[in-house]
Amino acid sequence: METMSRALAKARAYEEQAEKMIPPESRPGFHLSPRAGWLNDPNGFSRYGGEYHLFYQYHPYSSQWGPMHWGHAVSGDLLRWRFLPAALAPEEPYDRDGCFSGGAVTLQDGRHLLMYTGVDRSSGRDVQTQNLAVGDGVNYVKYAKNPVLTAADLPEGCSPADFRDPKLWQEPDGSYRMVAVNRAADGFGQVLLFRSGDGLRWERAGTVCANRGRLGRMWECPDLFQLDGQDVLLCSAMDMLPRKLEYPSGNVPFYALGKLDRATGEFAAGPDHAVDQGIDFYAPQTVLTEDGRRVMIAWMQNWDTVALRTDPRPWFGQMTLPRELSVREGRLFQVPVRELEELRRDAVVQNGVPLSREPLRLPGVAGRMADIELDLRPKNGGFGRFTLHFAEKEKLHTTLRFLPGENVVQLDRRYSGSRRAIVHQCRARVSGRNGALRLRLVLDRCSAEVFLNDGETALTATLYTDARADGISFSADGAAEMDLRFYRLDPEAG
Ligand code: FRU
Repeated sequence: METMSRALAKARAYEEQAEKMIPPESRPGFHLSPRAGWLNDPNGFSRYGGEYHLFYQYHPYSSQWGPMHWGHAVSGDLLRWRFLPAALAPEEPYDRDGCFSGGAVTLQDGRHLLMYTGVDRSSGRDVQTQNLAVGDGVNYVKYAKNPVLTAADLPEGCSPADFRDPKLWQEPDGSYRMVAVNRAADGFGQVLLFRSGDGLRWERAGTVCANRGRLGRMWECPDLFQLDGQDVLLCSAMDMLPRKLEYPSGNVPFYALGKLDRATGEFAAGPDHAVDQGIDFYAPQTVLTEDGRRVMIAWMQNWDTVALRTDPRPWFGQMTLPRELSVREGRLFQVPVRELEELRRDAVVQNGVPLSREPLRLPGVAGRMADIELDLRPKNGGFGRFTLHFAEKEKLHTTLRFLPGENVVQLDRRYSGSRRAIVHQCRARVSGRNGALRLRLVLDRCSAEVFLNDGETALTATLYTDARADGISFSADGAAEMDLRFYRLDPEAG
C-alpha cells in the first residue's frame, strides 16, 4: 500500500465518508450509481477473482464531471453491486488531468490489468496516451513504463489530442488485442487495433474502421467482439446528424456487424444501426460471462441531457441494466440479463385483458421497481394508439405509446417532473406484426428501459420523478387486449 498515490488515498478517504451522506433509497435499486459524486462511462468491465468488476469514470468530489478517477464495484449477479475503493486517481505527469475510459483483462500470471487513457493538458492542449495499472482486484499500481502507447504509435497525421478509450481482450492463443479511438488526419474518428504478447508491450496492428464523415465527427468508446458467428463493432459517435427515426442528433452509439480480417485488422462492416433508440444511453462496453453470454452495459445518460437535474443530489449518473446480446436476422438483439428474473416478486399474471379509452389500473400493478411484460393484440376493428403510463400521480407521468398504423413506439417523459428544456421524447420503428406488439418495461427508481419485440429495439431514459408517483395504467383508443405479466423487483430478494 505504500505505493498508493496521495490523490488516490485522498479520494478513498473522501468517498468512504461521502457515501454515508447518500440515503440508499435515493439511489437506483439495481442499477449502479457512483459511490459518491459523478459517474460516466463504464470501464474495465471484466470477470476477475470469481466476480464481475465494473469500473467507472468518476469524480467523487462533486456531482459534476471533473478530473476523472476510476470508481470500482463488484458483483456476483451483475445487478447487486458492492463498492470497492476507487482504483485510479489522476496524478502522474501523463494522467494529471484525468484517467479517462479504458478496459481490463487478466494477465498470464493471474494479475488484473487495467488500460486507461491518461490526459495531460500542461501544454495547453490535450495529450492523450494509453497507460497501464496492474493489481489484485482491489489495489492497482500504475506501470513504471507508462505511457505504453503515445502519438508516436499513431498513423501519420493523426491527432494526439484524441486518442482514447482502449478496450482489451485476450485471444485464444493467450496474446492480447485492444481497440482505441483516434481522430484521423481528415478530422473524423477512427478505430485502431493494437496487439501485445504479454499485455505490457503494445504495437499498432491496423485500422479497424474509419468514419470519414459518415457517422458524426469524433468517435468514442469502441468495443469489438465475436457473437453468433459474426464480428460486432460498437462505438459511440459524437455530433451525429439525425437519420430518420433511427439516429437522433447528438451523441449516439452505433453498431455494425461484419468480418474482422485478423491479419490486417480491417473490419468489413455491414450497415450501421443505433444500439438503443432512447434518450439516455452512451459508451456501451461488454463482457463475456462465465457461461459464454456477451453482456453489454452503458452509461444511462447522454452528454446533451446531463442538465436533467430537478433537485440537487449528492450523486449523478447511473449505468443501464446489463443486457444479453445476440445476433438475429442481421440485427443486434438485447434483453436484460436473466439474473434480473431472480429479483421478481409478487407476480400479477392476467391474460386477455380488454383495453379501452378509460385508463385501466389493476390491483397489485404499481411501483417504481418493476418488470412488466406485455403482449398486445388488436381486436376487431383495431386501435390507433396504445398508451402505457407509469411513474404516475396527479400531474406526473411518463408515457410509452404504440401507434400500430405507423409501427412506431414513442417514449415521452415531458410530464416526468423535469423543469429543463432538454430532449424528453424519442421514437423507434418496430417490425410490423399486424398491430401486435411484445414489450418489456423495466423500471428502477430513476429510469425506464423498454425492450420491444424480444429485444429487436431498446429505448432507455432516466427520469427523476418523485418517488411517490408509482401508478401504472393502460389504455387504447380502440379495440385491443393484452396479456400481462407484472413483477415487483426487489434487490434485497434472494
Ligand atoms: C465518453 C468519454 C470518453 C472519455 C470519457 C471521459 O463519454 O468522453 O471518450 O474517455 O468520457 O470522462
